[in-house]
Amino acid sequence: MGQARPVGGSESGDPRVRTARITDLDALAGMWEELAKYHVEIGGPEYRLAPRWRGEWQRFTRKHIGRKDRLCLAAEIDGIAVGFLLAAILQRPKVFEHRRYGHIYDVFVEAGRRNRGAGQALVGAAMDWFRARGVDRVELYTHAMNAPGRRFWSKMGFETTVHIMDRRV
Ligand SMILES: CC(C)(COP(=O)(O)OP(=O)(O)OC[C@H]1O[C@@H](n2cnc3c(N)ncnc32)[C@H](O)[C@@H]1OP(=O)(O)O)[C@@H](O)C(=O)NCCC(=O)NCCS
Repeated sequence: MGQARPVGGSESGDPRVRTARITDLDALAGMWEELAKYHVEIGGPEYRLAPRWRGEWQRFTRKHIGRKDRLCLAAEIDGIAVGFLLAAILQRPKVFEHRRYGHIYDVFVEAGRRNRGAGQALVGAAMDWFRARGVDRVELYTHAMNAPGRRFWSKMGFETTVHIMDRRV
């Protein structure tokens, strides 16, 4: 506050969103591990990662880089990746008239870099990407115990349409 901006540069500290690269995968896997740990805290042991999760996750995520119907975005602040979003265009079963829809798997911003607009910039860029491909509905799952996450999604314009229920057997 009150400090002069660097001459000729973009404003320091503003988030910038770009498509992820293969070289981002290690950093993104570290973020996804944080996301999984957070879900163990709020959702319980079913979110614990398997011993070989990193290879599996990277295999899945790299299929979202450079593909026309899948999306992996990275958010940078000051040139460093601090968040990511993973999404795809999916198809409902053939019995339905409207089949194509967008799905966001994950959005994550590192704890120390939150509330600076990176999450919103990632979701905004993903929505533009879906819109440009004629997708008119996007869905996602968020854990019922993730109150901050649910508040974020409602801020992004998402509403609850389905309750997924489970019980112990
Ligand atoms: C949810 C998350 C991605 C938000 O990222 P972020 O970079 O902090 O979000 P932004 O700074 O872009 O905030 C966007 C808007 O959402 C609001 N918002 C963000 N987090 C919020 C929260 N916990 N509660 C209420 N509003 C929130 C911001 O106030 C902002 O609104 P404004 O523009 O009116 O001020 C980040 O907190 C995160 O990674 N959380 C842990 C993982 C998670 O829960 N992911 C989503 C569910 S899978």
